[in-house]
Amino acid sequence: MSSVVNTKGDINDGTSSSGALAVEDKAFHGGQDWMTTENLIADFSVTTGIMGPCEEALSFLDGNLHKIHHYPALDQEPYRSELKSWLGLPHEYVLMGNGSSELIDLIIRLAPRGNYAVGPNEVQYKEYENSCHRYDRVLAEKPMEASLHVFVNPTNPTGEYLSVEKTKSYIEETCRDGSYVVIDESMLPWFGPRWREASVYYQFEWINQMLTEKGIHIVVIHSWTKIFCCTGLRIGSIILPCKDDFDLMKKYMIPWNVNVLAGDYLSVCMRNKEYLQQTWETTSNLRKIQKEQLEKEFPDWDIKGEAFLSWMWIDTKSEQVAEKAVTVAKAWGCPIRWGKKGYNRPTHIRLAVRKPELFQVLFSAFKQELKSQ
Ligand SMILES: Cc1ncc(COP(=O)(O)O)c(C=O)c1O
Repeated sequence: MSSVVNTKGDINDGTSSSGALAVEDKAFHGGQDWMTTENLIADFSVTTGIMGPCEEALSFLDGNLHKIHHYPALDQEPYRSELKSWLGLPHEYVLMGNGSSELIDLIIRLAPRGNYAVGPNEVQYKEYENSCHRYDRVLAEKPMEASLHVFVNPTNPTGEYLSVEKTKSYIEETCRDGSYVVIDESMLPWFGPRWREASVYYQFEWINQMLTEKGIHIVVIHSWTKIFCCTGLRIGSIILPCKDDFDLMKKYMIPWNVNVLAGDYLSVCMRNKEYLQQTWETTSNLRKIQKEQLEKEFPDWDIKGEAFLSWMWIDTKSEQVAEKAVTVAKAWGCPIRWGKKGYNRPTHIRLAVRKPELFQVLFSAFKQELKSQ
């Protein structure tokens, strides 16, 4: 196992919690193993897209690194306006973040006090619940009692997905008047060229109607980190339903939260139509092949998740097998995510859809080392 030496000369081999900020103190996340994986071939533990970072955007950053000599604009321009028109928003109420995580935390801090409810999923991305607990919110006994709903759709890690019509009905039937509904649609851009129409944020009239008739605030969060493959940079945004929510978020947001490199990277990605086109063309096709190969070799495994997504959630039906799969994958240079950590699903693993030559390495590892289990 390789090790990392920090500036004080301490060695952290990635397995100990001797550091001042131990990983164990934080929620467990995928994407943490790559530094301690010898001969890293590909990181299957994150849900990023199949293309890797956008080459055109990387070249742009290369040529514009000198910009770090200047502060970014306090009003997040020109990036915020570019994002607004790329999303097709007819209003101004969008803000950006250094990753969506800070926006998740802020909206959960600022929404009216009270209990929370999670989406209608078996299990979902945990940072929403973690933020709720940080601000002393308690899980409501029934969703109708909650003043805040947090719903990840499509859901990471399970890949469950509710169509926009079903999402609207769910909200209308389950959320009480005056509540806030925070929907994370970070994984929806994989839906395809018509992903905007498949999104709740695009239901402008309905969102306005929910606000004026029932006082329900529909807030939509996106992490652009995943679809544009920039986990080391990170960028996100939040779409608010009205000026009051927008002003409140602005008031409490940390200044200069979006650095120029992240803003520039997103800006080029949004303009580069080919990048997303290729992502859509390859992902579901390769996911299907990846799924078929795994199902043939491991017929007991239940491979879950919507067909357009960039990852699969697999119930191996055995904690031992899942743990061994994680160990073997890492040893072969292809770390994957174990469902036990963070999600408390010990028989599950999550693996990304990757290019065929990369998947073949992981597949060979599984075939050679798990078949005897
Ligand atoms: C559904 C979802 N939302 C938000 C995030 C956080 O993204 P970011 O890195 O942009 O803060 C993640 C990261 O795993 C995620 O899976």
